[in-house]
Amino acid sequence: MGKITTTTLNKLKANGEKFVCITAYDATFARLVSEAGAETILVGDSLGNVLQGHDSTIPVTVEDMAYHTACVARARTDALVIADLPFMSYSTPEQALVNATELMQAGAEMVKLEGGTWLSETIHMLVERGIPVCAHLGLTPQSVHALGGYRVQGRTPKGAKSILADAVEIQDAGASLLVLECVPAHLAADISSKLRIPVIGIGAGAGTDAQVLVLHDMLGLSSHTPRFVHNFMEGQDTIQGALQAFVTAVKAGEYPRDEHSYE
Ligand code: KIV
Repeated sequence: MGKITTTTLNKLKANGEKFVCITAYDATFARLVSEAGAETILVGDSLGNVLQGHDSTIPVTVEDMAYHTACVARARTDALVIADLPFMSYSTPEQALVNATELMQAGAEMVKLEGGTWLSETIHMLVERGIPVCAHLGLTPQSVHALGGYRVQGRTPKGAKSILADAVEIQDAGASLLVLECVPAHLAADISSKLRIPVIGIGAGAGTDAQVLVLHDMLGLSSHTPRFVHNFMEGQDTIQGALQAFVTAVKAGEYPRDEHSYE
């Protein structure tokens, strides 16, 4: 397929072809994820949980993200590398610009930030200056304390309406991608069909344009995993086999199934 860009992802959406994102935090896994055929790699601030042993992503710093982004970017082949702006690193547009610049100079090709309408000005500013943006709505882990825990979002009509309105607004502000985490499957499918930009789901059912999982979760290495995670090491002898099984299952529409989704 060659180097993956936002143009590639838009074409996949237009053709109704699913694509895949897997998190990676180092050079070896970045290479394996890319070789398995995942179109995008997320250097997620989930590294706070799976690498650093914290119980949330809140302690992760821009310095941590830049270090791991550089490790991943050195091994990049074709996959598009997205890096998370960590907690409180984009609370003003100016702060976002400084920190997103650091991640782009470390090798990211897009930055991800969590939140809706309040980020419109920030997204617009970054995009205008040449920094592509992936937004993240639904369960936004950096707001775990404000949300009262890791809970499914958008279950009430009011909540669903607000997530849809946020999604439209971040698209209009210039975001290239949207991650939707832990929302009812019907809401994610509705938002994906209404947006021009590709929507990547995690715990958001099968109706999104793409799926993402945290590497350690999908390899069955995490001590606790939410219901939407499948252990792709099952039936596989190698990590490469598990990564490929995830990519194949998403593209074939075999993952996620109803048992991995929320109503
Ligand atoms: O940090 C991360 O890995 C993420 C995914 C859960 C989407 O944001």
